[in-house]
Amino acid sequence: MRRVVCPGSFDPATNGHLDIIRRAALLHDEVIVVVGANLAKHGMFTVEERVSMLQEMTADLPNVSVETFRGLLVEFCRSRGVSAIVKGLRAVSDFEYEMEMAQMNYRLAQVETLFLTANPLYSFLRSSLVREIATYGGDISSLVPGPVERCLRAKLAAPNPG
Ligand code: PNS
Repeated sequence: MRRVVCPGSFDPATNGHLDIIRRAALLHDEVIVVVGANLAKHGMFTVEERVSMLQEMTADLPNVSVETFRGLLVEFCRSRGVSAIVKGLRAVSDFEYEMEMAQMNYRLAQVETLFLTANPLYSFLRSSLVREIATYGGDISSLVPGPVERCLRAKLAAPNPG
C-alpha cells in the first residue's frame, strides 16, 4: 500500500493544488490531503472551511481523503503509516524552502519527499494572490475550483465580524 500525504495550508486551495493532488492520486494507492492547523487561525478561512472545500473539490477521487494535523508533519506521517510527502514545485523560488523542509523531514523521521513539477499554467499561482485578487473584485474563476470560488465570494460578501 503506497500511502502519501499532500500537505499545505490551503488558504484556500487553488487549481495548482488540485492538479498536484490529482497527479499524486494517479501514482499512489492512497493520498491524504492534510491541512496544517498550527497557524491556521491567522488565515482567511477556518480549518473546517478549508477541509470542506478540499473534500468537495476532490469528491471524484476515490483514493483521496482530507484530514488536519497539528504539530510536526512527520509525526502525522508516522501515525498513519505514510511513507512519503508529495509536494508541487512551481518555480526556482520554491526550491530552497522546499529543499530545507524535505531534508529536515528526512532527518527527523526518514520520511521521503517527492516533488511533482507544477503544470506551467499554474507556475505563478499561490493562495495569497488568489485572496488578493478576490478581495479587490478580480476574476478568480480560472484560478480556483468551483467550491473555492463560491466560498470566497460568500466570505467576502459576509459582513466583517471585526
Ligand atoms: O502551504 P504551505 O505553506 O507550503 O504548507 C507548509 C506546511 C504546512 C506543509 C509546513 O509548514 C509544515 O509541514 N508544517 C508543520 C510543522 C512541521 O512539521 N515543521 C517542520 C518542517 S521541516
